[in-house]
Amino acid sequence: MARLTNKHILLGVSGGIAAYKSADTARRLRDAGAEVRVIMTRAATEFITPLTMQAVSGHPVYQELLDTNAEAGMGHIELARWADVILVAPASANFLARLAQGRADDLLSTVCLATEATVAVAPAMNQQMWSNAATQTNLATIKKNGVKIFGPAEGSQACGEVGPGRMLEATELVTLTAALFSSGELDGLHIVITAGPTWEALDPVRGITNRSSGKMGYAIAAAAMEAGARVILVSGPTALADPERVQTIRVQSAQEMHDAVHAHIHNAQIFIGVAAVADYRPAQVSAEKIKKQNADMALKLMRNPDILASVAALAAAPYTVGFAAETNALEEHARRKLESKKIDLIAANYVGDDQGFEAEENSLLLIDRENIIKLPTQAKTKLARALIQQIAQRYRAKYGAKIHRLRS
Ligand code: C5P
Repeated sequence: MARLTNKHILLGVSGGIAAYKSADTARRLRDAGAEVRVIMTRAATEFITPLTMQAVSGHPVYQELLDTNAEAGMGHIELARWADVILVAPASANFLARLAQGRADDLLSTVCLATEATVAVAPAMNQQMWSNAATQTNLATIKKNGVKIFGPAEGSQACGEVGPGRMLEATELVTLTAALFSSGELDGLHIVITAGPTWEALDPVRGITNRSSGKMGYAIAAAAMEAGARVILVSGPTALADPERVQTIRVQSAQEMHDAVHAHIHNAQIFIGVAAVADYRPAQVSAEKIKKQNADMALKLMRNPDILASVAALAAAPYTVGFAAETNALEEHARRKLESKKIDLIAANYVGDDQGFEAEENSLLLIDRENIIKLPTQAKTKLARALIQQIAQRYRAKYGAKIHRLRS
């Protein structure tokens, strides 16, 4: 079954008899793991009630552009930003015309205009209206503007006629929506990713760790999987569930993380070190809980292996990507790490206060030997997809036709 885990799908419902199927579409999108919010046009509410759509989506339905209550909550621009995909199903002939014109005089058309997300439409109308030259011209225009067209199917219609114009079934819409997230950019590649903190035990109950939540690394693993890669995620202790269709190996210490990475790196083409690995571990681990004695106490620490540098130093090193979490002089520190660890690309971000580790949003500065670009502040899931896109481009530029494919 198609998966849409944690994807934000904004379901637009315009006015047409096929709107009765929208409740099923919302439910199936949620069954596939998506979070669904619904916008209805005024005409849509003549065919299915907002209460029904609220019940199946689990959120109040957005209806009016100039609604002070709604704007005080998630306003229309926020809604446009929130969406990973806007799916308009059904899309009436009138809505397609409005989308083609770039109208912004109701909520749904405005949000479609204000979003950077992919907009997909599932047309539903009488076959004559579908075949009309005006509709076909509008369709060509929105296609040229990057809108995805799902369907329509052919068959018997609510009006009694037979022909093209029937909206696709909910299950087909879910499959097509999920396919929008499978870029295929890393098709057949094998990727190893580290994530989370490490835990360096002092005794059976105490240890040294850090504030890494693992969110960024897990999001990158999910994005790499969606881009077609076979992903092994080596994770330190986190509260997160294993990402779907990602082989997750749980470890505690830096040494264990190092060993797990090296056990799996031999047939990987890309390594991404996202983990906040402890630089030092206690020189001795007490078998029993350490008792308090003197007023002060000294801990002797020793260096942990640098996992990223050790992978980059392999004779057949994969394309290596590191992270630099800094509290100051971001670019300077990141460049130094790129050189000292001899890696291909470094993703740098500020940490501390409310930025970085536990936050839902992040931004990244991507630095390699050729250039430097900034991925602006956005949800970690979106940022992860943008990063994977950048890595795929650079990997292709470096290895071109020599890309080794595990699956053909
Ligand atoms: O040197 P620093 O810890 O700041 O470098 C950060 C980068 O190096 C991250 O990509 C991190 O995953 C990786 N690293 C590692 N092993 C270590 C320390 C850091 O893989 N022992």
